[in-house]
Amino acid sequence: MEKGFLEEYQEYIRKTGDRKALYKAVAKEYGVQKAIYPGSFIDISPSLVIPEVNYIDNFKGAIRFFKQMDGIQNYIEQHKEYPEACKIDFIGQDYTEPLRIEQVDLIISQYAGFVGQETKRYLKPDGILLCNDSHGDATLARFDEDFELIGIVSGNNEIEEGELERYFKLPKEKPIDLKLVKDKMKGLAYSAAAENYLFRKKS
Ligand SMILES: C[S@@+](CC[C@H](N)C(=O)[O-])C[C@H]1O[C@@H](n2cnc3c(N)ncnc32)[C@H](O)[C@@H]1O
Repeated sequence: MEKGFLEEYQEYIRKTGDRKALYKAVAKEYGVQKAIYPGSFIDISPSLVIPEVNYIDNFKGAIRFFKQMDGIQNYIEQHKEYPEACKIDFIGQDYTEPLRIEQVDLIISQYAGFVGQETKRYLKPDGILLCNDSHGDATLARFDEDFELIGIVSGNNEIEEGELERYFKLPKEKPIDLKLVKDKMKGLAYSAAAENYLFRKKS
């Protein structure tokens, strides 16, 4: 028998860890109402703390998961931590292709390629990009004129907005090769690193 969405989601969380506290800290700090999550796979935790989230993934396992949208909606309605009704959408396509969506307050980028670069046009001016540097998305944002580094999120989900100059520096001040990051789709071993980074889209 095929597994239900809840069992699959709980198993996924057991394996990868629950990032609800991360999304909650960011949503609270920046008043996020509406987000997109390109390359989400089945990580629906943002909907527990953000009223409107559009998940985007072209993997067939994710497409199959989100076919159970009624069950997902019910589950989120019962467990959400905000008073508004939840709105969940899923787009089962490549996020580098044009998306028929409106601009949002937050883009979530977690282990899914150059999400910030590919989807920044869907971010409102002053909107937030939350990303890690696993695939180098944070490095590309750091050296992108459209973004400003405004904070980091520590491993225990605390947002820090000071002393940001120390990030994205290589030992011995070696220059940063963005072509290498793009070719390898991998972040670099900086002297100081954070679990997650927060960038504001310049207006
Ligand atoms: C390693 S998983 C990470 C999933 C989730 N963000 C997490 O942190 O657990 C990467 C996901 O990104 C999706 N992905 C990667 N590139 C994509 C693209 N260009 N368009 C849509 N989805 C993509 C994959 O299908 C996969 O589900």
